[in-house]
Amino acid sequence: MHIQSLSIQNFRNLQPSRLHFSPQLNIIYGNNAAGKTSILESLFILGHGRSFRTSRHSKLINYEQDSFTLFSELYSHNVQQRLGVQRFRNNDVNVRLNQEPLAKLSDLVSLIPIQVLAPEHYELLTKGPSGRRKLLDWGVFHVEHSFLKRWQACQRIILQRNKLLKGSLSYKDLEAWDSQLIPLSDQVNQYRQDYCDSLSPYFHEIASQFLPDVQLSLEFYKGWQGKDLESLLVEQYLKDKKLGYTQSTIQKADLKILSGKRLAADYLSRGQQKLVTTALKLAQLRLAQERGQQYPVFLLDDIGAELDENHQKLLLNFLAKQPEKQQIFITCVHLDPLKSLINRYNNARLFHVEHGAVSIIEASEMNAQ
Ligand SMILES: Nc1ncnc2c1ncn2[C@@H]1O[C@H](COP(=O)(O)OP(=O)(O)OP(=O)(O)O)[C@@H](O)[C@H]1O
Ligand SMILES: [Mg+2]
Repeated sequence: MHIQSLSIQNFRNLQPSRLHFSPQLNIIYGNNAAGKTSILESLFILGHGRSFRTSRHSKLINYEQDSFTLFSELYSHNVQQRLGVQRFRNNDVNVRLNQEPLAKLSDLVSLIPIQVLAPEHYELLTKGPSGRRKLLDWGVFHVEHSFLKRWQACQRIILQRNKLLKGSLSYKDLEAWDSQLIPLSDQVNQYRQDYCDSLSPYFHEIASQFLPDVQLSLEFYKGWQGKDLESLLVEQYLKDKKLGYTQSTIQKADLKILSGKRLAADYLSRGQQKLVTTALKLAQLRLAQERGQQYPVFLLDDIGAELDENHQKLLLNFLAKQPEKQQIFITCVHLDPLKSLINRYNNARLFHVEHGAVSIIEASEMNAQ
């Protein structure tokens, strides 16, 4: 899949723009606070309906306006789609796909797979499991579309079960809910485990290029240890009731990143952690490509940040070997390190951002930059 064009209005500091993209490599460069990440953010919204930087939609609307509007022409499953997204300060949202209103934002996620790697993600290893679980579930969702329904059903039942726990007299009061929850949880587990197993060899291969001295592996943790969920729910009933919530659920799952037998987060430097996160996201991209899924659009924010020259080169070499149908957007402050990557593509597009104004730079002008 690829994004052909994007019109931006009243989004953060960006001036109204209509941008036409390369189906392969797009580079967005400019000084700090110019608006580079805001462009990636607007692209991400096309596929997710929300930002990767904030959950507060109102922050995305230009300070002086009441709504932002994005309009994009894109190719998904080789069919051209026209997508419009408008968000208002009161949180109302208006999404139109080919001029028809789209009721469920989750429909966007399967239609427009977008993966992002931004400085916000470099703490993926050290922060709690929710970021790693999201990363895992993003991958699972794009392989198993029935995953979302089952996952949502689990969330609903767990919520209901937690409400009932407090007033319950014995485990019997919960049995009917658990008989639905257990098979759904098993299915969610299986999807997650399968995805982790498929991702592992790609992660291993890429991580060993970026970090040849560290033995890294992935391990899926389903959210509870040992016993089957059925016995645990019975066994933990009294404690659950006391706590007021269910302890063993799919909401506790984690994608553990290990160095040998230890958690990598406890031992790796910040730069190494960034490389691990990068390897994870690139492995997800590679897996989607190998499986013949739609290639997710890949957004890479601030490519130079925190990487030494050698590691930056490794990453750039990896990006230079992407298949033809892979669309990539990269932001950077300094263009120089990217020039060799740009020269390997004959249709790369360069965008310069200055105080929110975006201009296209011809490749021939690039060497003079
Ligand atoms: N809702 C908003 N309305 C207007 N301006 C905003 C809004 N939200 C953020 N800004 C401003 O937009 C500017 C661009 O931010 P952005 O994060 O896109 O910059 P950037 O080019 O990625 O910078 P950096 O290189 O530092 O990462 C910032 O100056 C920010 O203060
Ligand atoms: Mg930025």
